[in-house]
Amino acid sequence: MTILVTGANGQLGNEMQIVAKKSSDKYIFTDVCEGYEKLDITDLEAIRKVVKENDVKCIVNCAAWTNVDAAETAGDIVETLNATAPENLAKAMKEVNGLLVHVSTDYVFGGDPYNTPCKEDQKGTPTGVYGMTKLHGEQKIQAVGGNYVILRTAWLYSEFGKNFVKTMLNLTATKPQLKVVFDQVGTPTYALDLANAIATIIEDCEKEIFNSQLSIINYSKSGIYHFSNEGVCSWYDFTKMIAEYVGNSDCDIQPCHSDEFPSPVKRPAYSVLDKSKVKGTFGVTIPYWVDSLEKCLKNLTEGQC
Ligand SMILES: NC(=O)c1ccc[n+]([C@@H]2O[C@H](COP(=O)([O-])OP(=O)(O)OC[C@H]3O[C@@H](n4cnc5c(N)ncnc54)[C@H](OP(=O)(O)O)[C@@H]3O)[C@@H](O)[C@H]2O)c1
Repeated sequence: MTILVTGANGQLGNEMQIVAKKSSDKYIFTDVCEGYEKLDITDLEAIRKVVKENDVKCIVNCAAWTNVDAAETAGDIVETLNATAPENLAKAMKEVNGLLVHVSTDYVFGGDPYNTPCKEDQKGTPTGVYGMTKLHGEQKIQAVGGNYVILRTAWLYSEFGKNFVKTMLNLTATKPQLKVVFDQVGTPTYALDLANAIATIIEDCEKEIFNSQLSIINYSKSGIYHFSNEGVCSWYDFTKMIAEYVGNSDCDIQPCHSDEFPSPVKRPAYSVLDKSKVKGTFGVTIPYWVDSLEKCLKNLTEGQC
């Protein structure tokens, strides 16, 4: 099967490149920047062309507008990239009976107060433009009606690009004191673990195709799933663990409330995803967040990436 990855130069896209090396499938890595096959996912005809030319049967969408605060003032591009573009990908896959694996976010929740892990069928209550446009993207994919797996994830980090782990590695190495919020709780997700889960889902879909000896007509497991690492922590705990692992002990890290760092978008106070469905359906094993963080930090500090 030929699998096309969008946004290949991002955090998840880079981890997909690592995971793809273990696969016998053909992968095509695309992005809007140099170094990849160029594909702008806001251009439906360009998607159709690359799908046709390469007989693509699965698209993994790692591209998105991901700057949460900047989304508030960026204008129409955020809806175009986070909602219309996934709809384009869903249409292109439906036309060839293919599968779209799309990545969404815990920020589709947050408006209602809750203190138990969010399930897939819980009502979306985004608090900002990013979460709202990602929710629209999910709805548009579902409305197209083809085969899709939407994976909502949270607090994504990796060895690649800009992210919280890399920022805190730097700040705890250079600042004598640091305040980090402890009143926002969630679960970090190592993008490599998410990429491995995506590979498992694609394999599962392929088995179904081979069993039916057809292209993917009705993938029985189409739907929305939640994926993060296991466990729960605050941004403060996350930072303490990063600093401790690399031995940045000279920085005095103190907990603080969110109102000390005003931001354009209200973040959910409790944003933990319930992962029972993805585990039960695909049999994926999900690592504890501290174990995955240590793997990523080892790669970063030993310069493997
Ligand atoms: N980061 C998080 O904490 C987080 C949390 C929850 C969910 N997610 C979701 O997880 C997914 C992956 O996130 P990530 O952090 O890996 O994203 P990322 O690092 O920001 O990567 C996104 C990639 O998409 C590219 N892109 C931008 N516009 C494009 C277009 N029109 N066509 C094709 N590619 C385009 C970007 O290129 P440029 O850099 O040149 O713009 C970038 O290479 C996203 O769906 C995101 O919403 C992320």
